Amino acid sequence: MASVQSDILDIVIVGGGWSGLLVCKYAKEHGLSSVVLEKRDDVGGVWYYSDDSNTTTVMKTTQTSSSSTTTEMSDFPMPQEIGEFPKHDDIHRYLKSYYKRFNLEANFRFGCTVTHARKQRKVWNTETSDGQIYRSKNIAVCTGIHQRADLSMKDTLLKNFTGTIHHSGEFKEFYCPHQNKKVMIIGGGETASDILDSWYPHCDRIIWCIPRGQHFFRKCSKILPNRKPQALDKASSRALKMIAPHAKSKPGLAWVCKWTTNGSLLAYQGHGIPEFRNNATYFHSFINKHAHVLDFVDYEKVVPKGAIASVSGKSVTFADGDTLEVDSIILCSGYIPEFPFLSTNLQAINLIDNYKFVFNVNDPTLAYIGFVRPIVGSIPGIAEMQAQWVTKVWSKKIQIAGEEERITAVKDDTKFWMQYFESTSHRLQTLVEGYAYLDDIAKLSKVYPDYWSLFKRNPSGFFTAYFAPYNGCSFRLNEPDMEAMALETLRMHSKDTITPMNLALNLFMRLVWFDWFLDQLSVVKYWLQTSRLLRPLSSMRIVRALNYIWTTPKRYLFDDKTGH
Ligand SMILES: Cc1cc2nc3c(=O)[nH]c(=O)nc-3n(C[C@H](O)[C@H](O)[C@H](O)COP(=O)(O)OP(=O)(O)OC[C@H]3O[C@@H](n4cnc5c(N)ncnc54)[C@H](O)[C@@H]3O)c2cc1C
Ligand SMILES: NC(=O)c1ccc[n+]([C@@H]2O[C@H](COP(=O)([O-])OP(=O)(O)OC[C@H]3O[C@@H](n4cnc5c(N)ncnc54)[C@H](OP(=O)(O)O)[C@@H]3O)[C@@H](O)[C@H]2O)c1
Repeated sequence: MASVQSDILDIVIVGGGWSGLLVCKYAKEHGLSSVVLEKRDDVGGVWYYSDDSNTTTVMKTTQTSSSSTTTEMSDFPMPQEIGEFPKHDDIHRYLKSYYKRFNLEANFRFGCTVTHARKQRKVWNTETSDGQIYRSKNIAVCTGIHQRADLSMKDTLLKNFTGTIHHSGEFKEFYCPHQNKKVMIIGGGETASDILDSWYPHCDRIIWCIPRGQHFFRKCSKILPNRKPQALDKASSRALKMIAPHAKSKPGLAWVCKWTTNGSLLAYQGHGIPEFRNNATYFHSFINKHAHVLDFVDYEKVVPKGAIASVSGKSVTFADGDTLEVDSIILCSGYIPEFPFLSTNLQAINLIDNYKFVFNVNDPTLAYIGFVRPIVGSIPGIAEMQAQWVTKVWSKKIQIAGEEERITAVKDDTKFWMQYFESTSHRLQTLVEGYAYLDDIAKLSKVYPDYWSLFKRNPSGFFTAYFAPYNGCSFRLNEPDMEAMALETLRMHSKDTITPMNLALNLFMRLVWFDWFLDQLSVVKYWLQTSRLLRPLSSMRIVRALNYIWTTPKRYLFDDKTGH
């Protein structure tokens, strides 16, 4: 018999990962009562490592792909000693200290899986596996993007494959039965890169198959030989956004990503590998930030492949006509979000049909936090903005748009993002250009920085804020008691990033249409690489020797010597 909690809380938060922590903390700040229901025995979600292959967590070797600058909480900087791309256990420690620093212990209930959540007469009843029913006015779903492994290929394209098939989620480290086997990794996301990194020294052959192509950049790289390696997502200042706007594929900036990732300005889509090319424009598709593994492809340790034409037994035939033998396939095909505890009609609603991917369009007492994926930037950075917005709306500090306006906004946004990602698979419904999305929510949430008034009262602070890389604290600048701390944090993150000279260079590159010319040359390069007549030339010794010489600067300058 379930026991019903007598109090009606303001919010029930489902999930105690990064997003759940953020909603809980902001709820507290806005005077809302809340409880966080978490099925595991600690905070941290995927960052709370487990050896159990049925629990989706990071792998043993995981480091973040987004820099601490773009990932940390706006009022709780990460300790500098954990570095720009922290290891997973450092992130877990950081989340635990956040939990303690803001005294969230009393709000958390561990070991409770939410099994049902239903709204009856304006009250949400949320039932947990330990037989409790929590009642609340609002419910925040923070269960994360890693819900159900996407195994759809197993029953379609790969149904005739007779070797073994695994999903990446099963692994926390190299899987010994793959020793000296022919392994094929399918998918081009960051999990594929991490698996490739751990598997390639042990296997007889690794084929990396990205059926629909992928865009890349190296999360950390030198830009010039005399510079220290830099976190590239820190090229995200307001000033740079003005020069290289998101909607135009960051003109003036795309060349930097190609150059640092591949050592070649003609590395279209950040790789220059014909098998991995698709039709999307750079920055209009998800970008895999673990591009260092492309070195394995360049030095022929890994075989790149595109679409699969057919599979029979252990033979896989690709769209380019090659047939290769494979013992085992690892699907790095990502995850499908699902909400089994919600009613069937709510489960049927796509995330894209929520207002700004957050509020249920008809009933804004239901909100989803942490499901938006930026092409570059961080999921937690976006989750923090969403958490602020949701708790401000629920505490009535701001008003949400009316139902009709919300419905219109959903239609407009869907059209906008569909067009923005028109040449991609549309598999990820909540993929966005992160900084554009953040600005949108910041305006609705009334936290978009008032640069003009900052300029009038503190000109040097304005320059810091305008030229510093993106960090959540830039959206706290309007709060008088946060301004000094925010500016100090921004100043700290500005060290070793883009200089006025870099900005001037980017502006110049934009004015002379440099990226556009590179794109045209890249089309020619791709045509030469794939031409039936010229393709056999690529295996000639002299061509390979020339290629080796051509890639010398890349080896010297950019190869993965940074430890990231
Ligand atoms: C290997 C790896 C590396 C990553 N690196 C980055 C990175 O560098 N940068 C970045 O931005 N993102 C990264 N991510 C994405 C990651 O999703 C976010 O960083 C962040 O963890 C999102 O937090 P979350 O709270 O939304 O989700 P999660 O961390 O998934 O937390 C969800 C929580 O909900 C709980 N839960 C689920 N269902 C229920 C239920 N029914 N009842 C009760 N509790 C429930 C889960 O137990 C979990 O604790 C990475 C992900 C992985 C797997
Ligand atoms: N160290 C890190 O920081 C790290 C490591 C791992 C994961 N992560 C994070 O974890 C999340 C999940 O990453 P992920 O790599 O597991 O998944 P993902 O980013 O969703 O990538 C899945 C890949 O599989 C492809 N794919 C899926 N279904 C397909 C199909 N039916 N046919 C052809 N191709 C298909 C996708 O292609 P399309 O995109 O073309 O559909 C994509 O290339 C991301 O947010 C990622 O940033 C971070």
